[in-house]
Amino acid sequence: MKRKEAIKGICACVALGAGVTIQSCTSIPMIDHNIMNSKIIVQKSVFIEESFVLIQNERLPASLGVLRSEKKYFAHLLLCTHKSCELQAAGKFLVCPCHGSEFDQKGNVLTGPAMDGLMALPILETASEIEINVKGIIA
Ligand code: FES
Repeated sequence: MKRKEAIKGICACVALGAGVTIQSCTSIPMIDHNIMNSKIIVQKSVFIEESFVLIQNERLPASLGVLRSEKKYFAHLLLCTHKSCELQAAGKFLVCPCHGSEFDQKGNVLTGPAMDGLMALPILETASEIEINVKGIIA
């Protein structure tokens, strides 16, 4: 199957309390998360060694993609930098349904027409959590 042909599978939801819900679509967890003081706080326990999760909230213009790689965390707004369509996760890639741009999970452009990488969001890391600052992008 080509990357662009990948589609979301059937989703299952798990409510974890405190406003957190995890959906599993294919192998990428989707987390509904509250925003408090312009921050989204994610427990590190959500991540497995090397993993990628999607975060959504109605105040965000699009989902966030959060990657744990080499013991570091990366958060990106999943809006295509070509003409702002929301990206879809397809395996290890983020694909734009509008004109076909592709990005890796660190926000780098792999295939155009997009020329620029995804918007990175600042992250503050504590022992058990990461805080993603969404101040400039929330409604
Ligand atoms: S809006 Fe994404 S490739 Fe055009």
